[in-house]
Amino acid sequence: MKISEVKSTTREQRITPHTHIKGLGLNEEGKAFQAADGFVGQTSAREACGIIVDMIKSKKMAGRALLLAGAPGTGKTAIALAIAQELGSKVPFCPMVGSEVYSSEVKKTEVLMENFRRAIGLRIKETKEVYEGEVTELSPEEIENPLGGYGKTLSQVIIGLKTVKGTKQLKLDPSIYESIQKERVTVGDVIYIEANTGAVKRVGRSDAYATEFDLEAEEYVPLPKGEVHKKKEVVQDVTLNDLDIANARPQGGQDIMSMMGQLLKPKKTEITDKLRKEINKVVNKYIDQGIAELVPGVLFIDEVHLLDIECFTYLNKALESTLSPIVIFATNRGMCQVRGTEDIVAPHGIPVDLLDRILIIRTLPYTLEDIRSIVQIRAKTEGLTLSEDALNHLAESGVRTSLRYVIQLLTPASILARINGRENITLEDIKEVDDLFYDAKSSAKVLAEYQGLYKFKQ
Ligand SMILES: Nc1ncnc2c1ncn2[C@@H]1O[C@H](COP(=O)(O)OP(=O)(O)OP(=O)(O)O)[C@@H](O)[C@H]1O
Ligand SMILES: [Mg+2]
Repeated sequence: MKISEVKSTTREQRITPHTHIKGLGLNEEGKAFQAADGFVGQTSAREACGIIVDMIKSKKMAGRALLLAGAPGTGKTAIALAIAQELGSKVPFCPMVGSEVYSSEVKKTEVLMENFRRAIGLRIKETKEVYEGEVTELSPEEIENPLGGYGKTLSQVIIGLKTVKGTKQLKLDPSIYESIQKERVTVGDVIYIEANTGAVKRVGRSDAYATEFDLEAEEYVPLPKGEVHKKKEVVQDVTLNDLDIANARPQGGQDIMSMMGQLLKPKKTEITDKLRKEINKVVNKYIDQGIAELVPGVLFIDEVHLLDIECFTYLNKALESTLSPIVIFATNRGMCQVRGTEDIVAPHGIPVDLLDRILIIRTLPYTLEDIRSIVQIRAKTEGLTLSEDALNHLAESGVRTSLRYVIQLLTPASILARINGRENITLEDIKEVDDLFYDAKSSAKVLAEYQGLYKFKQ
């Protein structure tokens, strides 16, 4: 086996349908540019979402819900992802699709509950007594196993820590050595050890080592100031779901364990309602004491018409809770039956009592010009070049069919062009793939025409 010939694929950039979307494309006053951040047109929906982003950032939106409604391919999913990008990495954003709730192993409401808790962040500020510094030495000391038998056991670990002000040598218990190994600490790393719990956290590599040849991207940090032994404010961003998991399986997430573990009994393996209630209680206490700050994020439920009445009832209740994120729904359905009911027909397949508390944002069909610009952006993202008349043809076809259909023609057309020895996609390529593939509307028409042929003769 030749390992040298195997290429890793991790570095290659994957192009997904929404790669070109980088944000909502709004100016300082919240007005949408006709084209910016990969977005073209759909300006009022983008501006409305800009206001929502501001509300979320100023924490005025918790427990509210929003619905993006519009025809297929009008950019609802793209807008939701742009909202996520505008919010940044500190605000949790949890995307899911309505159909995800249907599983044979987990209850529907359990899936919803888990995603709800993924969308609620908690910023915990704690002042901790720590030993912090650059590791100058790391030497485990072994002794003969006192119980006899073969092998040696660890008696203690000696670690040297250096700061700008001085150095200190610490003798550590073997149990701490395990966490040192888990964090893969080596000489030259900057770490801190919590004095009370012995939890070890690797901050990064000391920048004295910044010139060394490194294959992996490393975070270089300056040599810590002050003494080795000091009080340090530690900020952690976690979601409620992280806390649930950490407490259900005590071996993971040491940092979180250090605060929650004291209150909750370990050795739980399943996230139960009771556990969640206990966690909520502790979280609320921390919020009251000012140790933690609630960061309501976004739960995005795409294709919301796929949820059933049981889920909607649950959502109604969950939105009322004090620990609730902002929920954004998206659907391309108009009037339709609410799933799980026999005869209830409601707008967007959502029961009216839930619909009542939702703000609705419409996405409108695109104009020829918009489609033209979007196709151009997509071609550029996929690294393809199009001739002018090919682009015009796609834009016209997009008005008749759908934006998504014409975007999807790009890749097959580029393959055709390459087969014919060209880099540039021409009108002929586009026409040929347009003949080979069907859009949804014409495919349905064909089936309707030939319906008679598919029936069994009796
Ligand atoms: N205004 C826009 N600017 C740039 N790209 C867009 C815009 N609107 C949609 N797109 C792109 O067009 C494609 C289809 O859009 P999207 O998937 O967001 O539609 P949708 O409204 O979610 O449709 P559906 O109802 O079928 O789920 C995606 O690749 C999306 O990134
Ligand atoms: Mg969508």
